[in-house]
Amino acid sequence: MLVSNADDGERMIPQAMDVSHRFAVSRAMQNRAHQIIPGGCHTYAKGDDQFPYLAPGFIKRGKGSHVWDVDGHEYVEYGMGCRAVGLGHAFEPVVNAVAEVLGDGTNFSRPAALELECAEELLGMIDGAQMCKFAKDGSTITTAAFKLARAHTGREKIALCQDHPFFSIHDWFIGTTAINAGITESTQNDSLRFRYNDIESLEYLFKHHPNQIACVILEPAKYADPEDHFLHKVQELCTRNGAIFVLDEMITGFRWHNGGAQKVYDIVPDLSAWGKAIANGFSLSALTGKAEFMEASGLYHDKQRVFALSTTHGAESTGLAAAIATMRFYRSNPVIETLHEQGLKLVAAIKPLIRKHQCEGYVDVIGRPCALVFTTRGQDNQPSQLYRTLLMQELIKGGVLGPSLIISYSHSEQDIAQTAAAFDAALPIYRRALDEGVEPYLVGPPTQVVYSDKNTHAFQQRLVH
Ligand SMILES: Cc1ncc(COP(=O)(O)O)c(C=O)c1O
Repeated sequence: MLVSNADDGERMIPQAMDVSHRFAVSRAMQNRAHQIIPGGCHTYAKGDDQFPYLAPGFIKRGKGSHVWDVDGHEYVEYGMGCRAVGLGHAFEPVVNAVAEVLGDGTNFSRPAALELECAEELLGMIDGAQMCKFAKDGSTITTAAFKLARAHTGREKIALCQDHPFFSIHDWFIGTTAINAGITESTQNDSLRFRYNDIESLEYLFKHHPNQIACVILEPAKYADPEDHFLHKVQELCTRNGAIFVLDEMITGFRWHNGGAQKVYDIVPDLSAWGKAIANGFSLSALTGKAEFMEASGLYHDKQRVFALSTTHGAESTGLAAAIATMRFYRSNPVIETLHEQGLKLVAAIKPLIRKHQCEGYVDVIGRPCALVFTTRGQDNQPSQLYRTLLMQELIKGGVLGPSLIISYSHSEQDIAQTAAAFDAALPIYRRALDEGVEPYLVGPPTQVVYSDKNTHAFQQRLVH
């Protein structure tokens, strides 16, 4: 069987290694999907170029920490819908809350009573947040924060943290990536970048763009905690230079603490962006912040109203009901503590296996226990997509599916044991690939980084063979 390889063109896969028939239903669906859906799906991070060739193409259903693919295989899943599912798939209290509102209609000509209930619930969790507005996705929220900041300051530029991989699908952010086709140069020039835990890089921007920066946006943390009061120093710089301080809590919110990472790091930003796990995989996002900034998009002031957020589906009932149930569950159960404990157990299970199979320095598990990722390096000790793909491929064989090790409240001891067993089987192959080269072991092309500007035509080709 011929399979295209993005690096080497065409490459033969030995019959013995070709177990792609395991994914026959997926293959047929992938071929259909690519004919009618550019990229084959609706989220770049879920695309075929992000997973090994020997991976399920479509998921049929999920329950708790497990998912089942369209070919009938069951996996312990990590990643959890790009981190949107914090409690577990089809989590009963959330599903029941959604089912309860379904019969009452989902969208009306005046606000649903649930909008107020959900707003009160959210503001009850976030210290220092006085007002909130809902939407359906995080990109809309971070862009709204940017717009409020621009309107408030009368400035055009934004400073964003370049060590944080994603803030929005909108031009102000995508213009800073390698896939910036279709975005005007002036938009690209308006987005300035600084480094995390490097306050001088932000000082430099304020110095070289005096009175031009409307706001600073960053995640409170990614893999490392803020060092030397970094967040407070960012806030102080914003205050001194008249810029709005925005924290993107899309990932950290509902994982670091019930009150977000801002609670952990004891800081109150001007505006915060929330989404992902807020509604356990249902669609809801929120902008929260101080009234002095938020109310510019309200009715009761004598300035021009800022059109920050207004969407048809922004406050439809299922997302609101799911969010209310999710937040109530977080408040009355040790969700954050459990994510932390289970994450620690995962690290404790995997790290000795990395040592046992002499992969230390090549494979690692990093990040906060509630949001772990694995790193992979090749023979040259550099981060490697080839080796990342190999590890994912071998873990899938062991019934573990995940581009990361992001857990949910539903991940059990048994899941951790299964994951450890999958690593125990995968790492000897990784070691052999380090010794002999990855080629004999990896089936198909390596995964790509999401912002790759490489032509991935080969990925389409391989599917139709
Ligand atoms: C930190 C962060 N901010 C914003 C977004 C955008 O959210 P959405 O995909 O819901 O538009 C993401 C999505 O991955 C994210 O990780």
